[in-house]
Parts: sequence; C-alpha cells; structure tokens
Amino acid sequence: MRIRVRRAARLEADVLTPGDKSISHRALLFGALGTTPMQTRNLAPGADVRSTASCLRALGVSIAEGEVPGTVSVRGVGPGGFRPPATVLDCGNSGTTMRLLLGLVAGARTACTLDGDASLRRRPMRRVLAPLRAMGARMEGEGGADDERAPLRIEAVATLRGVAHRLSIASAQVKSALVLAGLMADGETRVREPEPSRDHTERMLGAWGAPIRVEDGEVVATRLLRPLSLPDAMEVPGDPSSAAFWVGAGLLVPGATVVVRGVDVNPTRTGFLRVLERMGARVELEPEAAQAGDPVATLRVRGGQALRGTEIRPAEVPSLLDEIPLLAVVASQATGETRVSGARELRVKESDRLRQLVVGLRAMGTDIDELDDGFVLRGPATLRAAGIDAAHDHRIAMSFAIAGLVADGQTEVEGAEWADISYPGFFRELAAATGQAFEVRP
Ligand code: S3P
Repeated sequence: MRIRVRRAARLEADVLTPGDKSISHRALLFGALGTTPMQTRNLAPGADVRSTASCLRALGVSIAEGEVPGTVSVRGVGPGGFRPPATVLDCGNSGTTMRLLLGLVAGARTACTLDGDASLRRRPMRRVLAPLRAMGARMEGEGGADDERAPLRIEAVATLRGVAHRLSIASAQVKSALVLAGLMADGETRVREPEPSRDHTERMLGAWGAPIRVEDGEVVATRLLRPLSLPDAMEVPGDPSSAAFWVGAGLLVPGATVVVRGVDVNPTRTGFLRVLERMGARVELEPEAAQAGDPVATLRVRGGQALRGTEIRPAEVPSLLDEIPLLAVVASQATGETRVSGARELRVKESDRLRQLVVGLRAMGTDIDELDDGFVLRGPATLRAAGIDAAHDHRIAMSFAIAGLVADGQTEVEGAEWADISYPGFFRELAAATGQAFEVRP
C-alpha cells in the first residue's frame, strides 16, 4: 500500500499511545511461566505481539481475547510445561518473539522449529544460539557457522547449566533470552552487557517472584522452581517508541499542538527525550500513575521550535535505538551538524535502517553521509517530496511520513502497511490530526 503525504498546514493531536510492544511481548511470554490467569490490558495491538501470542498458543498456553480490544487473559503452563507444537512456530516479522522464545524453549524439553518472514529470516540469530548452546541447548539455524539465521530447529534437552555471559553488544533481546534460559538451568546464569539496554525483563520477572537479581549491572538468574506469582491483572503502559512519532511531528510542524497520554517513560527507553532536550526542544512531561512498575507521563509539545544539531554517542544508543529513524528526520530540520555513532545494530533491524535513512533523507534533499556505524547530517534541509520504500520496516514507514509533513510536494511512502507491525491506525490518526486524506493506493 502506498500513501501520499503533503506538507501539513496544521497538526492538532491528543492521542493515547498503544500499549508498549516490549512489555506486551513479555507479559505473554512470562505469563506462560505462571499457572494462574492474568488479565492483561492495553496489550500492544500490532502484528508482532500477535505473533508471540500464536507461538505461545501452539505451545499450550491459553491466551483468550477479552471483549475490550487489547485485553487478553493469559493462563500459562508453568516452568517446563510446554507441549510439543504441531506446527512450525511462525514469529512473523518479530525479532523479539524469535529471540525471547529461543530462551524460553531452550531448556523446556520441547522440540520445535521457529521461522519468520523474509525480513526476520535475514536477521542474525547466532548471537542468541551460541550462548544458549554454551548452556547445553541444542539448536541450529540455516547458513554458515558465523551467520546462522531462521528457520531454527530446537531439540529437546534434559537440562541446561548456568553460564556467565559477556555480551559484545548491548541487546535486550539477547539478555532476555539468556535470562529466560537461566530460569531453566542449574546453577547461576549471569549476563553482563557493555551498556545497559531496556530493563523490562529484569523488572517484570523480579516483580513476579522469579529468582533473578541485578548485581552491579549484571543480571543473575537461577532455576525457577515454581510457577511465577503473576498478578491477577496488569496494565501495559503506552509505547514510548510509538509516542516518539507524535513528539517528532509536533516539534516539526509549525503551530502544532500535540498531547500524548499514558507514555512509559522508563529511563532505559527515553534517550530520545534527552537528545531532543539537548537539541533545544521543549517537551513537557506531566507524571501519571505508574504502570507495570514503570513511570508513566503525558507528553506535550508545541510546533515550530528552533532546534540545533547534536551528537548521539555510542553509550546512549541503547536507550534510543528504535527512535533513531525519527530522530534523523527531526535532525534534518535542526541547524548544524548531527552525528550518530555506535549504532551499527541498526543495520540488522527489520531493515538496514542506516541505509534506508540515508537513501531516503538524501532523496528528500538532506546533506547526509552514511558512516559504518551511524551517519552525519548537516541541517536544516529544505525537504522535497520523494518516493520512499518502507523496506518491510514499520519505523521507516512512519518516520518518512513525518518527513513528508514538512516537505514540499507529495511524499509517497510505499509499504505504509508495515506500520501495522507496531502501530495499526497510526496513519489514520495522523491523517485526522493534520486534516489530510493521505490518498491511499494499493
Ligand atoms: C527489544 C529490544 C531492542 C529493540 C526491539 C525490541 C526488546 O532490540 O530494537 O525493537 O523488546 O527487547 P535489541 O535486542 O537490539 O536491544
């Protein structure tokens, strides 16, 4: 599906962001380790979390949709309770589903095969397979020894043993997979990252009684001897990565007023707000009641603010990893140089995001150079419309639609439907907020 976006003469939005994708995946996956029903409200509506739900159902977990959209009741099978699935577990486009599931099934005495779509089949899996094998898991992928990818075959094993892992790159997905395997392993499993990545796994598992602790930045897990103590109900806070698109649009469109409610502002997720502040942006945060143990806030932004370029350093990349496409679009409108380094990981996301950003922003008239691990751009650019390929990537689709709101002419985003991966309804809401039709073509 292709949409056409024009320069926005206005932007007025008061939105409730959909539930956080990372927390939603984890609510379902960790819910599987309990045996009592947990009602989960405001679950992320996108296709990624549906992929997690369907894989878990195939393993015997009950996930029943409630009457209110986004409400599900999860009833798990407890540690070691999975049944052998009758089909291949299809993780769709979702790296989080595939990597966290690997950790969950590694020691579960259940043989299975995990697969995904063309984009997921291109993503590196050795980073999870190799450390899990060091714990005794038996699993293999396609491709060479250094380049294993899905489909992945997992054999049943009798037991795993705890290992001290030192990750060479910060990754919440890898960390979480190893911690989950650690809950099925003898002895201690330790995971140390070069920089802290999002901490939802530690927080949620810890709150639900898993034998897990954080010691001097290192996560330590031991065997889970009884089902997790799940709450009867939990509420998923709004996704800061989805909220970021509204914040970015609000800053760029002159005269805009944007209010985004219910946003999770866990510090491991809100590096983009710290960077925007450094660029001179004023984003007001009004605290709301905490949810799922995370701080939550309403964000308010006014449009047409003068912004300056900034440097995003490697140490802060994990806290804004998924927001870099949007930050690049915002930076194209800031005065001076913006430099991002230490973000090589973006090359192995749903698309090679560095490449897609550089190609797209350059086509729209931005002075931008690609680096091996980032980019450098000099703003402000006078953006002009171009044809943009979303490249199977929800965040590229949404970021370039925002660029289209401040570009001359009609920007065409091909593959706009990929936004449904994390934010179904985004384009409908953005069209309403800007008074545009976003003429759609098949
Ligand atoms: C996620 C972790 C991040 C992020 C992804 C979701 C998670 O990946 O990009 O969208 O829920 O754990 P990393 O494994 O690179 O941290």
